[in-house]
Amino acid sequence: MRRTGRVVVGLAVLVGGYSGLSRLKAADDNVVIGERPAIEVHLDQARIETGEVSLKDCLRRGRILFEAVFNKLDGQGRPLSTGGGAPRLAGQPAFLRTSGADSNSCAGCHAQPRTGGGGDFVANVFVLAQNRDPVTFSVAGAFSNERNTLAMMGAGPIEMLAREMTGDLIAIREAARAQARTTGVPATRPLSAKGVSFGSITVLPSGKVDPSGIIGVDWDLIVKPFHQKGAVVSLREFSNNAMNHHHGMQSVERFGKDTDPDGDGLMNELTVGDITAVTLFQATLNTPGRLLPANRARREAAERGEQVFSTVGCVTCHRPSMVLNNRVFTEPNPYNQAGNLRPEDVSRPVTFDLTRDGPEPRLERTRDGRAIVRAFTDLKRHDLTDADEGFFGNEQLAQGRLNGFDPDSNFVLPAPPRPVAQFLTRKLWDAGNSAPYGHRGDLTTLTEAIHYHAGEARAVRDAYFGLRAEDQAAVIEFLKTLQILPDGSPLVVVEDEDREPHEDRR
Ligand code: HEC
Ligand code: HEC
Repeated sequence: MRRTGRVVVGLAVLVGGYSGLSRLKAADDNVVIGERPAIEVHLDQARIETGEVSLKDCLRRGRILFEAVFNKLDGQGRPLSTGGGAPRLAGQPAFLRTSGADSNSCAGCHAQPRTGGGGDFVANVFVLAQNRDPVTFSVAGAFSNERNTLAMMGAGPIEMLAREMTGDLIAIREAARAQARTTGVPATRPLSAKGVSFGSITVLPSGKVDPSGIIGVDWDLIVKPFHQKGAVVSLREFSNNAMNHHHGMQSVERFGKDTDPDGDGLMNELTVGDITAVTLFQATLNTPGRLLPANRARREAAERGEQVFSTVGCVTCHRPSMVLNNRVFTEPNPYNQAGNLRPEDVSRPVTFDLTRDGPEPRLERTRDGRAIVRAFTDLKRHDLTDADEGFFGNEQLAQGRLNGFDPDSNFVLPAPPRPVAQFLTRKLWDAGNSAPYGHRGDLTTLTEAIHYHAGEARAVRDAYFGLRAEDQAAVIEFLKTLQILPDGSPLVVVEDEDREPHEDRR
């Protein structure tokens, strides 16, 4: 028989049961002895919106959800759903490294240098294998795209940067649309946001878009900053996907209320409030900063390396800084797809100030009240392959989709196959503790990662390897200073001479 999962009351405790597992209700009805779910308290979104549940409580619950080791009593597992949420044939493995469910906890992979961080090669995910039915046992590139676990420190600022860039690009499209309508001839405008060029857009008098000039972003012009492919718009959407993909934990907002599509005997496994909490937990993780070498020669090299990184041209893609006009993070994201909470679903968004709230270090504030994001990315997709070097073009499966834009009715061209060799410019603000490198995590040094830059980065890469050896080494020394730092530290920390550098980052 199917049971409703634990009912939700702000911070009150609820109890479920599961046949065959040893658990008893004690005399006091609220106490269970024996097997218990990892999460006994579920959050009510309405109480988050009214402020009855404070941001602090929300973040505490978010961390608990992120670190929880889910079990059957939580609704772990998805015997009848794929990791993409589609119905699945019964009788396939409950846990599987390839197609998932592949782990018990978000923090099982996102753990380096601590919770919310990146992962070793062993924490790789076989992206798109989760949709296979029957599941795939093969890690060959024909069945999935193998990707290395990214850290989410600074992910809140990244989501907001993408939102502002999207707003700019859509405003350009709409201006072109209005122009084409009034003039009766096609209107072409350059597409750029925060100084990053995304080619150009042409809109016909009919309102249809000619997308052939759009570069480095999807035709819907929504900058999707998550997945190394740039396929997901928000931390919330990613969390809804990941909870189901990795753990078989199905959220109400994605899978519906009082239903059990994954056939594990539990309904309402994660409330809307739970997803808000785990999203805000990720959005408030501290921002990467700098860990400067104690040794003087290394420190001077790092300073020089930062200059060289700029003059040699790495900064054309790895932008050292971008400015956020609005330093307030709001949840939910207005560009969320159906199946994820949207602004129209809430009485008021949850907000926090990226320069003031959450653990330090945080974004710096400008004099005029904006915020600086030093992520070393342009949030644009690039192709780093050419005829001589195809290392970063290893994948075979296209990933991603347009948000709310129908290729058949909105564009003059059919949707193109997605270029499998394009990846978002990797954020480098955690380069010092994001090893291993590359989207598959199969490179052990920064130099190898630079070596395999070709295609759009060919000229810059050749200029780098044409530098004097000490200048190349200085760039590496600089990249190593970009680090995820412990909660509460200032943005710039000097290494403790008596400790190994990795001890200073936890
Ligand atoms: C089995 C390992 C694994 C588990 C478990 C896991 N992740 Fe991830 N996560 C990854 C990998 C690998 C990536 C990079 C995916 C890519 O680039 O396509 C990633 C990326 C992300 C990102 C996007 C980061 C970015 O900058 O693009 C978010 C957000 C995220 N995970 C959230 C979660 C949440 C929330 C959970 C728990 C519900 C979770 N992950 C569980 C491996 C994992
Ligand atoms: C044309 C844009 C472009 C230019 C120019 C460029 N990069 Fe990159 N960089 C990227 C992209 C895209 C990736 C992601 C590659 C992947 O894993 O698919 C990347 C990844 C990296 C990585 C791997 C980081 C990690 O954590 O895996 C390093 C290191 C790096 N770049 C350093 C540099 C340096 C140093 C330069 C200048 C010599 C440079 N890049 C120039 C686009 C660029």
